[in-house]
This record gives sequence, structure tokens and C-alpha cells, in this order.
Amino acid sequence: MSQPLHIVILAAGEGTRMKSNLPKVLHRIGGRPMLVHLLDTAGELDPAAIHVVIGSGAEEVKAACAGREVQWVLQEERKGTGHAVMQAMPNIPDEAVVLVLLGDHPLIPAEVLKEVVSHKAAPLSILTMELDKPKGYGRIERDRTGRISSIIEDKDATPAQWKIREVNTGIIMAQAEVLRAWLGALDCDNLKQEYYLTDIFAMAHSQGKEIRSVLAPDPRDLQGANDRRQLAALERRHRHQTARKLMKRGVQLMDPERIDVRGKLKTGSDVVIDINVVLEGKNRLGDGVVLGPGVILKDCDLAAGTHVHPYSVLEGVRTTGACDIGPFARVRPGTELAEGTRIGNFVEVKNSTLGAGSKASHLSYIGDTRVGERVNIGAGTITCNYDGVNKHATEIDDGAFIGSGTQLVAPVRVGKDATIGAGSTISKDAPDGELTVSRSRQSTVKGWKRPRKNPPSSESEGNT
Ligand code: UD1
Ligand code: CA
Repeated sequence: MSQPLHIVILAAGEGTRMKSNLPKVLHRIGGRPMLVHLLDTAGELDPAAIHVVIGSGAEEVKAACAGREVQWVLQEERKGTGHAVMQAMPNIPDEAVVLVLLGDHPLIPAEVLKEVVSHKAAPLSILTMELDKPKGYGRIERDRTGRISSIIEDKDATPAQWKIREVNTGIIMAQAEVLRAWLGALDCDNLKQEYYLTDIFAMAHSQGKEIRSVLAPDPRDLQGANDRRQLAALERRHRHQTARKLMKRGVQLMDPERIDVRGKLKTGSDVVIDINVVLEGKNRLGDGVVLGPGVILKDCDLAAGTHVHPYSVLEGVRTTGACDIGPFARVRPGTELAEGTRIGNFVEVKNSTLGAGSKASHLSYIGDTRVGERVNIGAGTITCNYDGVNKHATEIDDGAFIGSGTQLVAPVRVGKDATIGAGSTISKDAPDGELTVSRSRQSTVKGWKRPRKNPPSSESEGNT
């Protein structure tokens, strides 16, 4: 019998303890909403469908997951985990197997879930974990033969049951047909007056149905986030998980405790990432890319051999060959740098392309500019691209040399192999191959004397 896998993610909670206007499952870990993490992990199991039960902030949750293949299920009233799963059941066929995940436990590794799913021949399965401090969790009760006989919620437990260290992670799998029957028989006769999904275990046990359990290898991957403190703990755990994955891929991290990946990261071989680097959005690092300490990248695509020196901030940058950037460079969206280019300290580049071998090594602003190959841009050069209303383009052709302290008033073009004298303000096109200077001539005033300080007047002295 083929058993299509239907995943149900419970995400209707408000998350009151977050003290936030944001629905709980939209709080971010590693820059992405908790629910998005879970959708990605769920997707790795090749399910027939993913059903997400939403309630509080439903529209906002849907919008945050736009473009994903999700069956949204509205739980109008929050009446417990059993009730939440019940809402999804009408869309699930009897021959399916249902895997339930909790929206606020986003870091569960796909391999652990795959292990649970491997038991789908059994009517009911559960992922448990052992905790030194099991408070707050449903305790796993086992009969004399070691089979799970029931799950007791923390609030309903007796002091003896509180001591049980094996708890419910919240991840439960059941065959749809029996699950439907068990859910139909739930009541809310408990302290929270909720329909507990966990009550199906006592039903299965009394019916003599087989219950399988998988013990999670590392409970830290199963932590949930109910408040800001736990959210920060998850962020730390996520950092740990990410660092481990990167190192497994061959990335050298100078300190796995000091890297933040807030989004997606692709890496080639022999990438080196120094301490306190933050990678936001979608970044790709080619073979041998080196990121110095304190580098911040957002949505960048860096070609093999690119070296970003300390404390540089790059957003929307593409390098098409090995180049050197920083230290202390700021490179903004729309910038493309070819092989052998160099962007030095205190240089800002925006929406510009630099051809192979071109350099702006110190203290410059280059905006809306097309720079050819082998151009040297002297220290303190500024493209004046904004007239207060509109932006204008600058073109600097191959082999040009721009003297230090030059202002290029756009729209303007500097010709091929042209030289611009230092300190020039260039507002008309400079021709190919010639020297163009626009500063006033230097002159010397012969015999000029520096003014001296006036001597104190004798009248005012001692005359008070
Ligand atoms: C639940 C389990 C407990 C387990 C723990 C793991 C039950 C009864 N208890 O307890 O055994 O150890 O998770 O963290 O299942 N939700 C809805 N609709 C509802 C109620 C809850 O969507 O009506 C969602 C919540 O948004 C949350 C999840 O289900 O994501 C779990 O609900 P919560 O109330 O936090 O359950 P716990 O008391 O933590
Ligand atoms: Ca919870």
C-alpha cells in the first residue's frame, strides 16, 4: 500500500510571551521566519502536501510564505493541538500518513525527521527527547514492558510524573485513518480544557496498537521559542548548526561561534571566513574567497579569489574575477567589479562597473559610473552624480588616469588614456590621450610678509 506523506504544521498560536505584534511563527531565526525554516525542512521529505494550521495573524503569515506550495488551514478558535490537527484532516486521504510538526520548533534537522518517517508502517510514532529539566513538556509514560502507554501534559502531571525525563518533542506521526478515529474521540477534560493531540497515545495503547518511538540525538535541535530569551537561544543554536554545515562543506571558519548567516549561502572550495562576519540575504562565495574580520555582505555574488578585507560592507555586489576590496570599503547595489580591480579604504562605490585591473585605492566616491579597464582613480576623487534633482552618469574609458582630488561633474566622459591633473573639477568631456587640468595656475607672491600679531597698546596698559 502506498502511503502519501502529509505534513501538518501547527502554527495558530499567538505567542503572547513574545510581547510582540508579529505572529509567533514569523519571528526570525537566521534572518528567516521560523515557519519558513520548517517549510524548507518539510520540503526535504518530499511530502504529498504540507498543511499549515493558522489562526492568529493568518493573513500576515500567508503573506510571509507567498509563493510556497502550502495548504492553508484556518483554525478559527484555539482549542488545543488535537483540535488544530482535526482542522487539517478533511484534506487528507485515509491511506496517507500524517506527520505533525510544531511551528515554534524550527530547527529540527531533516535527517531526524527522515528517521521518524522511516517508521510509517506503524500506526503511531513519536519523536521523544530526554531533558534534565523537563518542565513544561508532556511526559512519556511507559508500561512495564516499556511500551508508551500515555503522554501526560505538564499541567496535568502528578509530582511523580514530573520526574520523568523523557518528553514529547511535539513531533508525532500517525496513519490517517486511525488518526481520524482517535481525534474524533478526544475530549477536553483536562486542566487547560483543550483537545490534546497527545491523548491519542493512551487510546492507541488501550487498543493494543503498535507505537514506535525515536529518541532525538540532540535535544538542542528541538528547542522551541516561546519568549525572546528562548528565541535568542535558538539563534545561537542555528548559528552552531550553520557553522557545522559550512565546515563540513570545507569552509574554514576562524571561529564557528562568531559567524552569522541570515539567509542563504553558497560556497565554493577553500573559502575562508574570519570572525564576526555577517552574511544576509542570498550570497554566493566562489572558490578561495576570503572574508576578513567584521565584513558584512548582503546579496553578493563574489567570484573565485575575491578578497574582502576587514570591516567592509557590501550589498548587491557582483565580482566577475578575483579582486580586492577594503579594508573599510562600502560597495552598494548595482556594482560589478571585474578581475583584478581594487577598491581601497574609505571608498564608496554605487551602481557602477569597474573593468579589469582598474583601481580606486583611497577615499573616493564613485556613483553611476562606467569605468573601463586599467583605470587609475586617484585618492579623493569624487563623481558628482547628483544635481539635487536628477542622477547623471560618468564614463571613464580604458587606461585613463584621474589625478587625486578630482571632481567629475556628471554627465561627463573621460576619454581613453586621458590624464586628469590632480585637483581638477571636470565638467566637460576630457579627450582621449590628452592631459586635462582645470585648476587655476599656481603663483608665488614675492616678498609677501605674514601678518603679525598687534603689540598691546601702552594706553590701555595698567590703566584700569
Ligand atoms: C505541546 C505538547 C507537549 C509537548 C510540547 C513540545 C500537546 C497537548 N502538548 O505542549 O506534549 O511536550 O508541545 O513543545 O500537544 N497550536 C495550534 N492550535 C491550538 C493549540 C496549539 O496551532 O489550538 C500550536 C501552537 O501554535 C504551537 C503548537 O501548536 O506551535 C504547540 O502548542 P502549545 O500550546 O505551545 O503546546 P505545549 O503546551 O507547548
Ligand atoms: Ca509550546
